[in-house]
Amino acid sequence: QTYKIAVLPGDGIGPEVTKEAVKVLKAIEESDESISFDIKTFHWNSEYYLEHGKMMPDDGLDQLKTFDSILFGAIGDSRVPDPVTVWELIMPIRKNFQQFVNFRPIKLLKGLQSPLNNSHPIDFVILRENGEGEYSNMGGTMFPGEQREMAVQNTVMTRQGITQIAEFAYQYAREHGKTKVTSATKSNAIIHAMTFWDKVVEEVAEQNADVEYEKYYIDALAAYFVQRPEDFQVVLASNLFGDILSDLGSAIVGGLGLAPSGNINPTREFPSMFEAVHGSAPDIAGKGIANPIAQIWSAALMLEHLGRRDLHDKILSAIEEILEEKNVLTPDIGGTATTELVGDAIAGKLLTK
Ligand code: NAI
Ligand code: MG
Repeated sequence: QTYKIAVLPGDGIGPEVTKEAVKVLKAIEESDESISFDIKTFHWNSEYYLEHGKMMPDDGLDQLKTFDSILFGAIGDSRVPDPVTVWELIMPIRKNFQQFVNFRPIKLLKGLQSPLNNSHPIDFVILRENGEGEYSNMGGTMFPGEQREMAVQNTVMTRQGITQIAEFAYQYAREHGKTKVTSATKSNAIIHAMTFWDKVVEEVAEQNADVEYEKYYIDALAAYFVQRPEDFQVVLASNLFGDILSDLGSAIVGGLGLAPSGNINPTREFPSMFEAVHGSAPDIAGKGIANPIAQIWSAALMLEHLGRRDLHDKILSAIEEILEEKNVLTPDIGGTATTELVGDAIAGKLLTK
């Protein structure tokens, strides 16, 4: 089968790590006759903005819609305000393609040491609601400069929004042999929005009673991530809570150079988008030392979403082999290798499997 993949390399280290992810996809194509990729690259980045005054062409979303999946580098450049790059490129894609699940595996790979220094395996996923919740533009400010100056920011929780992320969590758990879903809440203090979150999540939990359900207040849960991360399997969270937990999660398993993510449209009506969690890293851009593993793993998640979990697992074990051998690692994880050498090493493992 041939999959149409749109590649948006972006800015800074985005193109550097994405090149290695594409290299790995090519190695998969070469080593497995049953799959091929029709890859098209779109240079919609800050350079494009400086030239055209917009982040993508007016029919950009229509162009992307025809693809099976999107592989996104990272975006961000000091010459363009961050709100422009985020709100004119990433957000339109996430919202128009209804990518309401932000999927983040938190897995301590073989060969790596957690800064927590405990010997327990860490292997769970965070499913963050990606389209509503605390990140809404409803609200406003009043009385600027006066003593009574104030700001109001509303949280938007909808039955549909909560139901679909909760149902995804249970479906994911079942498909991956997970036996428990943990919901992050704060219904003791955020009494309207989070009480509603609990109510709707619990309705879905009751319909999926074969999988255990538990909930924790977000502050306690953050502490448990550090104290007993081995207890979690599938963590379900609102937009804000999931955002914070995801960064905490990536920190306990090795940092940004190793953190992949997916923005998933579970109905498959529109393409999903896969991207490393990190940004364009201007401090190391152009030096050829960015760790490409986060982006290569993101490409693996893309293959899993396209129905090839076997190929995801194959890429992940190639990554684990090079982490265990420790010969070809980038500086962020203690090595001296370049981005390109790490990509070559992982692609090489796949070609000899
Ligand atoms: P960042 O993730 O780009 O960098 C944070 C730190 O982590 C830096 O010291 C960087 O060198 C290091 N780092 C990141 N990825 C790495 C990798 N693969 N290998 C080795 N080291 C790595 O976050 P920062 O500096 O806050 O943001 C830089 C730009 O990226 C900003 O313009 C920001 O808006 C943008 N950004 C874009 C995102 C996206 O495209 N989804 C996500 C996060 C930030
Ligand atoms: Mg974040």
